[in-house]
Amino acid sequence: MQNNAEKINFFKEAMSNYPTGVNVVTTVDENREPFGLTVNSFASVSLDPLLILWSIDNTVSTFDKFMNTDTFAVNILAENQAEIASLFAGSEEGRFENCEWNYSKHDLPIISGAMASLQCKVFNKVEAGDHVILIGEIFQIDVQEKSPLLYHKRKLGAFPASFHEE
Ligand SMILES: Cc1cc2nc3c(=O)[nH]c(=O)nc-3n(C[C@H](O)[C@H](O)[C@H](O)COP(=O)(O)O)c2cc1C
Repeated sequence: MQNNAEKINFFKEAMSNYPTGVNVVTTVDENREPFGLTVNSFASVSLDPLLILWSIDNTVSTFDKFMNTDTFAVNILAENQAEIASLFAGSEEGRFENCEWNYSKHDLPIISGAMASLQCKVFNKVEAGDHVILIGEIFQIDVQEKSPLLYHKRKLGAFPASFHEE
């Protein structure tokens, strides 16, 4: 049997070698102040109804905001938005002062230039270890024809040009 330390090491190794897209999930508090963080735990869940999920670490500074909101927006970052991914994964100070964004019709912060934005109402919240899984039902989705930003082995970057060659 593997001991716990071994399992954790292999888990970290496997997950860091598992490529994902990168998202900034945003919401507002009761004073309409914007909050958000970078996440790569995003996944699609269901077509009928249209559901997605992501998970939030219960130690992050924005945790309480997301536990108290009924809506959030998933901004799927485009390949030229690595700086925004780092901005929303760094100190909470100045995240929204240092990037372009605007309020949607539904009052959710939308990051300008993202590949897609998915505005959701909270469908369910599931406690899962040291994270909470937030499941969102999409009520508005906007997509731009752009390539996504990728995260792999702790690096942010674009698809290699060779990837889509015939
Ligand atoms: C590529 C990347 C993916 C991340 N994914 C998640 C995630 O899925 N869930 C999460 O809670 N934090 C995730 N984080 C970490 C948060 O963005 C970051 O720890 C947090 O916003 C900063 O914590 P603080 O607000 O407590 O200072 C990720 C960070 C990076 C760089």
